[in-house]
Amino acid sequence: MRVLGIETSCDETGVAIYDTQHGIVSEALYSQVENHVEYGGVVPELASRDHIRKLVPMLRQVFSIAGLGHGDVDGIAYTAGPGLIGALMVGAATGRALGMAWDVPTLGVHHMEGHLLAPMLESKAPQYPFVALLVSGGHTQLVKVDDVGQYQLLGESLDDAAGEAFDKVAKMLELDYPGGPKVAKLAQQGVAGRFRFPRPMVDRPGLDMSFSGLKTAVLYTIHDLQSVDGKLALQDQADIACAFEEAVADTLAIKCRRALRQTGLRTLVIAGGVSANTALRQKLSDMVKHQQARIYYPRLQYCTDNGAMIAHVGALRLRAGQSNNLAMQVKPRWSLVELDPVSVK
Ligand code: KG4
Ligand code: ZN
Repeated sequence: MRVLGIETSCDETGVAIYDTQHGIVSEALYSQVENHVEYGGVVPELASRDHIRKLVPMLRQVFSIAGLGHGDVDGIAYTAGPGLIGALMVGAATGRALGMAWDVPTLGVHHMEGHLLAPMLESKAPQYPFVALLVSGGHTQLVKVDDVGQYQLLGESLDDAAGEAFDKVAKMLELDYPGGPKVAKLAQQGVAGRFRFPRPMVDRPGLDMSFSGLKTAVLYTIHDLQSVDGKLALQDQADIACAFEEAVADTLAIKCRRALRQTGLRTLVIAGGVSANTALRQKLSDMVKHQQARIYYPRLQYCTDNGAMIAHVGALRLRAGQSNNLAMQVKPRWSLVELDPVSVK
């Protein structure tokens, strides 16, 4: 079965074709970063308009790369949520229209399920069941995954998502949007140990997390330095970035270790934009070694938003007979645990 996947939930337009026998056969990705950088964040209306501009040429491109025609796909999957409503509508309307025109079933896919199962696209894929740490710009969740669609939420951030905290700290350090990768890059020049920020909620039982206090601690440190020296020196910025990144990675590692112990599982999967962070990957890899557990993550291009993860999840569900009726529904807010189970065995 071949499925066309369309991702337009935020500021990346992603299109891919997934073949259940051969994997991803063709893909295209376009990032809108340049359009939003002067505003310091994603402007929803600009995002929708840019998806409209880019989507059809990119659809042509993936078919051309694959040497396929529209008669060669058996279904279409598009991101139905969570995300920006206008941006989601572009992918949903296009997916539904093509499905009707080509007479193939269509399915609205959950963006975070796309991230969650992206490590399955790798040749060395994890076996179910596993614990997943989902870390993106909008979500930080620990999930017990028994199979496709069988998700139990173990814990989540009660306030900011880890990616959001990275983005906000980037702004405090006067770095451009998107901040996460910029903070990570700056952190490499930082001197570890000069600052130490709190590891929020690690001394409390449970698997929930919080990152807003950490963000405030960073803000106070910046203010203190500014009141002494005026503007922050580059080394100050780098040292703060380094301490912040370490505090996030440490907090997540402590919660992941607790989740592995609590569930008795020995497989940890990390996915979502922040899973591209090298310090986090290193910290979690060290932690799992001590737990006699194993860690899996997607290749870098599948950590952040892309069409491949949507085509992949769409194929798993469409193959199992799931599809939407004619009603086109997008869900800007949508919990992962509401999804229907699918058995792919
Ligand atoms: O999964 P994603 O592409 O989009 C959402 O679904 O939100 O994640 C984007 C988030 C942003 O907050 C971005 O700053 C963060 O992931 N991010 C990173 C890195 N790369 C992306 N954060 C820290 N280090 C990185 N290398
Ligand atoms: Zn995402």
